[in-house]
Amino acid sequence: MPSEVVPVNVPELVCFTPSCRERYAITAVLYNCPKCGGLLEADYPKPPLNAAALKKVFRERRMNNTPIDQSGVWRYRELFPFLDDVRNVVTLREGNTPLLEAPLAAKYGGLDRITFKHQGFNPTGSFKDNGMTCGASQAKRLGMKRVACVSTGNTSASMAAYAAAAGLEALIFLPHGNISFGKLAQALEYGAKTLQVEANFDQILALVRVLADELGIYLLNSVNPFRIEGQKSIMFEMLDQRDWHVPDWVVLPGGNLGNTSAFGKALREAHEIGLIDKLPRLAVVQAEGSSPFYDLFKNGGELHPVANPETLATAIRIGDPVSWPKALHEVRTTKGVVERVTEQEIADAKATIGRAGIGCEPASAATLAGIRKLTAAGVMSGSADVVAVLTGNVLKDTDYIYKYHTDKLEAPGGVKIQSTLANKPIVVLNDAKKIAGLLG
Ligand code: F0G
Repeated sequence: MPSEVVPVNVPELVCFTPSCRERYAITAVLYNCPKCGGLLEADYPKPPLNAAALKKVFRERRMNNTPIDQSGVWRYRELFPFLDDVRNVVTLREGNTPLLEAPLAAKYGGLDRITFKHQGFNPTGSFKDNGMTCGASQAKRLGMKRVACVSTGNTSASMAAYAAAAGLEALIFLPHGNISFGKLAQALEYGAKTLQVEANFDQILALVRVLADELGIYLLNSVNPFRIEGQKSIMFEMLDQRDWHVPDWVVLPGGNLGNTSAFGKALREAHEIGLIDKLPRLAVVQAEGSSPFYDLFKNGGELHPVANPETLATAIRIGDPVSWPKALHEVRTTKGVVERVTEQEIADAKATIGRAGIGCEPASAATLAGIRKLTAAGVMSGSADVVAVLTGNVLKDTDYIYKYHTDKLEAPGGVKIQSTLANKPIVVLNDAKKIAGLLG
């Protein structure tokens, strides 16, 4: 919350702009403040239980077989109590993603140790499921029939699945030719009406907002405050898994900056109610060709959108991130930093995460690439306790992987990516002797 805390009795939406702070009913269908145009966030009364009691309840729920307790999102529902009736919850048992140690990746990043919080273990393979379960549940509660989003691929895959599970019609808008086939395939398989638009993410978001208003469709991009509420659970679950020991740093990739906003809000709220005793620092990493937030953090002032964002990490190919005012507030509050990395750095970090037996999609690997730069620059200490969030599954973008390992990957503009850690498949004849000779 950017200004002083105003105690509230019921969940409400509140404008994020410090000079406005206008309040609206939690059931209002709004994505921006009608008064000033600012972003909206959910605001709640203090939870009825104290921190110790909450921790106990969260832990005990892991033993329950009810769908909402089995969800690694809804298990923490006291921390985002926007629903008045949990029968509206739409869950695919999202969350429950592991913390993984990766010594090889730690060494590459200049750290003694690293832990990956791997959101690629979600039902549709990305962190979007944590938010979408909340967005879809709110859509159901509001009696919406149709939901829509623009996406670089993961939001659409997730929304398609949750809409199908909720019995809602899904309308998906994608930048034609600039999302991975794996993600497009998911939207088709889950039955969403899928429109491939000849424009980039930022342009399509403007288009979809107009359509959503005109046609009464519920918008499920991360400008929807309930998506952000769900994504907070990534931090709650991570802290719970660490017995509420706070890491020094949480590192994540930045695109539209919804996740940065969600993590910051989660950490502040956890701190306010005494679940944690300090805030970790947030480190947001962007791809060099799509890094308006990096520029903003460095230069101050307002965000200057990048008109033609480019990166092979298509998930974060965004030039005009809507959530930047929230994200900036969160990074500053945690004394965090913003870094940017090249296509080559992303590619090699990604192959390293693969070699650790973990794997992730390109955007996720920006984390390790960023860590390597931050430790080299002395911003992050080599002995720091670091949690890096891998946002998407290794199978999300197999085309990228195949090209990297067969030395065919080219950055936007045709610059060749060096396949530093290439692991080429070998074509052999069906001949035992020859193969034995080859294997030694
Ligand atoms: N990593 C992955 C794998 C993503 O899909 C995204 C965003 C991000 C990181 C960046 O997160 O936008 O919250 O800063 N993907 C969105 C989509 C934009 O449409 O799927 P952010």
